[in-house]
Amino acid sequence: MRFKFPSKGRAPLLLSAAAAAALTATAAASTSAESVTLAADGIVRSSRAISTIAFVVADYKYSLRGLARDSEDYQFKLSEVHLRSAKKLLKLCEANGGFYVKAGQFVSSLRQVPKEYTSTLSCLQDKATPYNFEDIKKVIEKNLGRDLSILFLAFDERPIAAASIAQVHHGVLKNKQEVAIKVQYPGLEQRMKIDIMTMAILSKSISKIFPDFRFERVLYQFQRTMSLELDFIQEANNSQRVATYFRKNNAVKIPLVFRDLTTPQVLIMEFCHGQKVDDLDYMREMGISPVKVANTLMELFAEMIFVHGFVHGDPHPGNILVSSQGNGRFNLVLLDHGIYRELDEKFRLDYCQLWKALIMLDSRKILDLGEKFGVGKYAKYFPVIFTGRTIESKSALGVQMTKEERNHLKDELRYLKLEDITSFMDSLPPDFLVILRTDGLLRSIIGKLGVGRHVRLLAYAKHALRGLEKQDESKGFLKNTSSQIRINITYLHLRLLLESMTLILQLNNMRHAVVNKLKDLVRGILHLFHINMFTF
Ligand SMILES: Nc1ncnc2c1ncn2[C@@H]1O[C@H](COP(=O)(O)OP(=O)(O)OP(=O)(O)O)[C@@H](O)[C@H]1O
Ligand SMILES: *[C@@H]1O[C@H](CO)[C@@H](O)[C@H](O)[C@H]1NC(C)=O
Ligand SMILES: *[C@@H]1O[C@H](CO)[C@@H](O)[C@H](O)[C@H]1NC(C)=O
Ligand SMILES: *[C@@H]1O[C@H](CO)[C@@H](O)[C@H](O)[C@H]1NC(C)=O
Repeated sequence: MRFKFPSKGRAPLLLSAAAAAALTATAAASTSAESVTLAADGIVRSSRAISTIAFVVADYKYSLRGLARDSEDYQFKLSEVHLRSAKKLLKLCEANGGFYVKAGQFVSSLRQVPKEYTSTLSCLQDKATPYNFEDIKKVIEKNLGRDLSILFLAFDERPIAAASIAQVHHGVLKNKQEVAIKVQYPGLEQRMKIDIMTMAILSKSISKIFPDFRFERVLYQFQRTMSLELDFIQEANNSQRVATYFRKNNAVKIPLVFRDLTTPQVLIMEFCHGQKVDDLDYMREMGISPVKVANTLMELFAEMIFVHGFVHGDPHPGNILVSSQGNGRFNLVLLDHGIYRELDEKFRLDYCQLWKALIMLDSRKILDLGEKFGVGKYAKYFPVIFTGRTIESKSALGVQMTKEERNHLKDELRYLKLEDITSFMDSLPPDFLVILRTDGLLRSIIGKLGVGRHVRLLAYAKHALRGLEKQDESKGFLKNTSSQIRINITYLHLRLLLESMTLILQLNNMRHAVVNKLKDLVRGILHLFHINMFTF
């Protein structure tokens, strides 16, 4: 990976200007008397941010000076500085907490930053020292206009969890309903103003120094996300919407929100028992099959993506619980509905088509779709990104690449530069980045559950087809069971295809010929159904 630097040393100047501006902004944001403490705290945090960034910039300049950009020495030093800087930033985020932790996590989820950053910052835990119970109590009583003792039979003062913007308590309502109470920390809006302002100023100066990175765009996205997350009414709305999508799915549980006890800063919902979705010990103890859990998880998210186009923004294991229902049965509990992405309808359909093409190994279709997604020649990387294959690949999905393919891919990637990746990422529609991130988080959970890749591929394949069906349904076709049966049959065939391809590859016998025959077979089947759709 490479960086470009402007050759002249304007960085120190820029940064001191940034520092001055940030401190002024911090002071200006805090005119009212009651916010003096907050402002003081803001200044401490802003100064810490500025000095860290100044150090990082100086480190890059100093360590890389006089080295030819394509020399090995440069690459080696660069990687060292990346790592050192990432560690500095990690410390900064931990010290400043709040939005800095969120920002660090946000950065670590981006693909265009060097891997030293993603790997270092990804260990940022969204954990905070809980607030004093008195402060939390004040927020609840102010928001709900009633004393805690009037609302609750019991209220656990010790929080279950404390994250960077809110903490969650357990309690029991007067009607004996067990609830989770999510309470936003006091003074957050003002903190956010100050923090975002500092980050804006810093990112402006950084993007002058590292022109390859689009920090400003990233910051804009970050800010938008944060202001949504600060409104719990929004969260209640989201959770209600997903709940209607999955009301018939017994394996999925969305905690019921008590709307009359919910305000922008306080959210009260049904309490759900369970353990993190990657807790294998719990599953073993309860006799729950990790394969079934992985399957349910993938089906849940595939349906959100392909069928509803409404996608949970942060599927990390802490937000998905496995809840034992006895005898090895279980529910998946989906938590934290603060951020959802509503996919553009055209994007959703194209994305369904893309998966259909990926499954069918239809490289021409993939390249066509690349045009639609506006990524042009980069479309050939889609199979690598999603299925771990090259576009020329003839072998089965869900099977590791052959040595020959790996070498071929390596050759291709060798000539790929950071600028290429950045422009590839920039050319992707924003919806696509969200999907990539979601896919990454899901893959990592599936990996921890020790389940094969085909679980994910099958769920995507099945729901990509369903997603395409939905379009026909809304046009008035296929409202009845015939469509269900048709989807089920197509799915069964896809499943057969994937499984037999895997088998064939394992036998490694006359592979191309047979795979091609199978491919034709499934194409024919799909074609047949396509015709039937209009003649049913
Ligand atoms: N309805 C619920 N039932 C049981 N536990 C809950 C419930 N809601 C939240 N929790 C607990 O509180 C934790 C944090 O909840 P949530 O993810 O909604 O908060 P958050 O502030 O958005 O945290 P993060 O940003 O880390 O996801 C969860 O991991 C879970 O342990
Ligand atoms: C939540 O939904 C209600 C209607 O159900 C709507 O009036 C309100 O504007 C929504 N709030 C937000 C923040 O989206
Ligand atoms: C199902 O719908 C098709 C057309 O959409 C119709 O021809 C058929 O009669 C319907 N079948 C039933 C059982 O309703
Ligand atoms: C199709 O499969 C689903 C489960 O995958 C099942 O619930 C449904 O009843 C099936 N529909 C028909 C018509 O067979």
